[in-house]
Amino acid sequence: MKIFLDTANLESIKKFNDMGLLDGITTNPSLMSKEGGNPKDGMKQITNIIKGDVSLEVVSTDYAGMIEEGKRLRQYGDNVVVKVPMTSDGLKACKNLSSEGIPVNVTLVFSPNQALLAAKSGAKYVSPFIGRLDDIGQDGMHLIKEIKEIFSNYDFGTEILVASVRHPMHVIEAAKIGADVVTLPPAVLDKMLKHPLTDIGLKNFLADWEKLKSENSDIKI
Ligand code: E4P
Repeated sequence: MKIFLDTANLESIKKFNDMGLLDGITTNPSLMSKEGGNPKDGMKQITNIIKGDVSLEVVSTDYAGMIEEGKRLRQYGDNVVVKVPMTSDGLKACKNLSSEGIPVNVTLVFSPNQALLAAKSGAKYVSPFIGRLDDIGQDGMHLIKEIKEIFSNYDFGTEILVASVRHPMHVIEAAKIGADVVTLPPAVLDKMLKHPLTDIGLKNFLADWEKLKSENSDIKI
């Protein structure tokens, strides 16, 4: 399963990229707005730091505008994936950009039918938002199961990118289902790393080593 970071925060991107954990990045206008400044600078820097796919989202809602913005976004790097909303114009733009070799991520997907149409339109990624479905009392993970079942019946080549992830249990469930990608807020990735027994165990190992050192002055690993 690929791990993307769902942020436009350069510090977090550098931190997890340096650990070798990141296969890509997803951004959206809200994440860009959270960081402030000129989004163009941020986009350029992210595409330079990350070798894998970086999803940058269009803000036009009409077909022609999406195509124009998609082509401009792609100039930031060969690793740019153009993110378009799950609308009729978005699907048309997806079909066109994909046929020109520009990969597309169809975002704001909330139903299996939307995912099916995005795949039919040649999307490289389809982004179902599971957390936002959970928020309104629906089962977000059930949507991932349904999309996985549908995609496994055909030969689309579209990857399921699990988005709107809220906690580590979402990641475990997505991995069990066999989703291709999860995109994680930095806080979720941080939580995945940690376990209290790891901290306690390490503290005890080091205390025991100090004890050994006090008995043998010349030990060094
Ligand atoms: C995905 O590409 C989106 O940027 C993101 O996962 C949305 O998450 P949210 O529902 O926490 O805003």
